[in-house]
Amino acid sequence: MFEDLKIILYPDPRLKKMSQPVDVFDDRLRVLASCMLNLMREAKGVGLAAPQVGENIRLFVMNPTGEPGADRVYVNPVLLDPDGEEESEEGCLSLPGIHLNVVRSKQIRLQAQDLDGKRIEEVASGFLPRVWQHETDHLNGTLLTDRMGPVARMANRRILNELKEQYEALNPPPPPPPKTKPKPPTGRNKRKP
Ligand code: NI
Repeated sequence: MFEDLKIILYPDPRLKKMSQPVDVFDDRLRVLASCMLNLMREAKGVGLAAPQVGENIRLFVMNPTGEPGADRVYVNPVLLDPDGEEESEEGCLSLPGIHLNVVRSKQIRLQAQDLDGKRIEEVASGFLPRVWQHETDHLNGTLLTDRMGPVARMANRRILNELKEQYEALNPPPPPPPKTKPKPPTGRNKRKP
């Protein structure tokens, strides 16, 4: 299960899809979360959302400190009561090389479920809510590229183009369907009754 799981990169269309709520809390979900935590750790990230491994379900994992015991898994997260704003730099494991200042709510209340389906509720301010907002963006098909203003887009243009070229080289578009010759007119008027 999930042996071939890997982090997918911009502009893979699966990153732009709306992810679906989780309603089955089974071993498959547990294994997925654990594989995602491993991938996140290997890539030295602080958070990873399920669509970033090609699974369009509403789940993300994170570890804000890098400490072994600090892994967190959130299923079906909902962000409530945003308060204040703060701008800070963000990166994304699906957009290697991209760094961008993003304005996020400073304080947020998060409601979610854990891997057993049990309800979680947390309120935090600062770094944690920034990760919650970034990962919840992923579940809605929103990437850092969608948060770029014209200046950031210009500054990151070269890297974005390189990522597009890489993606196209690995995923060539299917060949166009063979052209069928238009049929000659059937000469309907000549047909006998
Ligand atoms: Ni990301």
